[in-house]
Amino acid sequence: MSVDSVFRTRSLGVAAEGLPDQYADGKAAKVWQLYIGDTQSRTQEYKTWVVSLLREHGVKRVLDVACGTGIDSIMLVEEGFNMVSVDASDKMLKYALKARWDRRKEPAFDQWVIEEANWLTLTEDVQKPGGGFDAVICLGNSFAHLPDFKGDQSDHKLALLNIASMVRPGGVLIIDHRNYDYILETGKAPQGKNIYYKSDLTQDITTSVLWVNSKPHMITLDYTIQVPQEDSQKAPELSKFRLSYYPHKLEQFKGLLNEAFNGKLEHSVYGDFQTYVPGHSKAPCYFIHVCKKTT
Ligand SMILES: C[S@@+](CC[C@H](N)C(=O)[O-])C[C@H]1O[C@@H](n2cnc3c(N)ncnc32)[C@H](O)[C@@H]1O
Repeated sequence: MSVDSVFRTRSLGVAAEGLPDQYADGKAAKVWQLYIGDTQSRTQEYKTWVVSLLREHGVKRVLDVACGTGIDSIMLVEEGFNMVSVDASDKMLKYALKARWDRRKEPAFDQWVIEEANWLTLTEDVQKPGGGFDAVICLGNSFAHLPDFKGDQSDHKLALLNIASMVRPGGVLIIDHRNYDYILETGKAPQGKNIYYKSDLTQDITTSVLWVNSKPHMITLDYTIQVPQEDSQKAPELSKFRLSYYPHKLEQFKGLLNEAFNGKLEHSVYGDFQTYVPGHSKAPCYFIHVCKKTT
């Protein structure tokens, strides 16, 4: 996989309010399933880490606030967790709903709740059980999808406040983002195996950084994926889609989380699921934050 980088500097007007669903044309949603590869083969390291962490914290009830096509939620339903899975994109949810329907005869899948919800209105969109969920997850570099149209991160703060409010005291939030510190420093993503997705269909990911008033404002990844044809004699088709992300830097994101939990948290940072020691650890591809809500 080659990663190219383009740095551009230009001034952006304030975009209209309202959140674009980057998956609305259905193109990325369709190819996403191929990008992540066979759901059963999501890296074992990933599965072991998430499932052990949840079990260590005695978690039973989980809210997945960015379930997308359902990859994490399906894995957790299969592992016996009681799942509520939400996402803002109906095009992505369509795949989760289909998976649930196909397996509805299995009691665990019959009980799986899937709803449309937006982080900015999460408290209205999702019914919180009692004091909250034992765990909330927001994985797969999802939170970075939320843009900062107002330029003051107020939407990021609101979304994180809503997400944190869903965690019961003593419960955990697991949320991740790519290593944007590295991408901004070097113009390319750290090289290394993708801990989340196993697809070998990715042909290229082109990284572009948009700067606004000398600040990094948005990172665009242009994905080129090879789509195999039913007739295996035929050459695979190339499918291209673009996703844009807000480049959260590690220290700044830690600050946002601290604010969302009103300082009442135990916060651990992992790099590609290893304990992250700044200056010592190799540049990870992803940072994963585990926030335990204290009382
Ligand atoms: C990269 S996908 C990841 C999905 C899944 N967690 C995975 O790893 O495959 C990001 C998801 O975040 C969702 N998302 C983006 N902004 C959102 C918002 N404001 N509220 C709820 N979901 C949102 C998108 O619709 C998309 O399904």
